[in-house]
Amino acid sequence: MFTTALFSALMAGLTVASPLSLTQRQFQGNYPPRTTANGFKLVANISTPSDIFDPPVHNWFLSGVHVGAGLNAAILVPNVDAAATLFVNGTGRDVSAQATSIGLPPIKYQGGATPMGLRFPMGPIEHATNLGLNFGPGNIGAGVVGGLRSPWAQAFTPYPYFIVCNETEPAYGRPQHAVKVAPSVESIPENCVAVTFLAQCATLPEDVFEGVDELNIHQLDAPCYEDVGAIDWSQYD
Ligand SMILES: *[C@@H]1O[C@H](CO)[C@@H](O)[C@H](O)[C@H]1NC(C)=O
Ligand SMILES: *[C@@H]1O[C@H](CO)[C@@H](O)[C@H](O)[C@H]1NC(C)=O
Ligand SMILES: *[C@@H]1O[C@H](CO)[C@@H](O)[C@H](O)[C@H]1NC(C)=O
Repeated sequence: MFTTALFSALMAGLTVASPLSLTQRQFQGNYPPRTTANGFKLVANISTPSDIFDPPVHNWFLSGVHVGAGLNAAILVPNVDAAATLFVNGTGRDVSAQATSIGLPPIKYQGGATPMGLRFPMGPIEHATNLGLNFGPGNIGAGVVGGLRSPWAQAFTPYPYFIVCNETEPAYGRPQHAVKVAPSVESIPENCVAVTFLAQCATLPEDVFEGVDELNIHQLDAPCYEDVGAIDWSQYD
């Protein structure tokens, strides 16, 4: 079963291989160079400086903080070692339809495995809403934009904005740099700032998908940057 999944992922990759490389050539020169990897970390890029955070959270990393059984609220952390390692799950066709999901390495235990993924509410939202890196498959509609769609290796969800919020209550389970999605500019609270999440290449642990066939994972390589913090934006703006 895994072999079949791998084969169809490969075939899907072959189908899109030539338009991708054409597009990449077309984008060259004006955009930071990209590559691809089997995993990635997400780096918060703040385009417009904001005084909400001191220190500024520019180039901080997406991670999860435990807030309940199987539940981890998405937050930013300064240290790359604490960043979540993620991957895109879906077939080549899912990529075209923006129907992929973002997964984390599944948790294996004797006799089974639990998937982990980026979770958000399905359907329209009216207010800024928390993201989770929770037990369960990632929600459909998230991935890393690339190829024909955009020159940026940047994460997307069904919602137009990622935001990072300064939550001042340092209570247990209340992260200080909570990451959420927002449906509109007007819905971004005053204690939050819009961020772009750029994918920084990472390598998934070896054997990460061994023995988890029942999760039907189709890991797809994702476009990414070697080192987001090292990009000199003055060359590209
Ligand atoms: C990243 O942030 C810098 C400012 O620090 C900005 O110049 C650049 O346009 C941003 N890049 C993206 C892809 O948002
Ligand atoms: C959040 O905002 C408060 C008030 O402006 C500030 O004192 C605090 O340092 C900020 N927290 C973080 C994590 O930047
Ligand atoms: C991975 O994506 C496939 C569809 O391509 C889906 O059937 C499967 O449930 C997903 N698995 C996880 C763990 O998200």
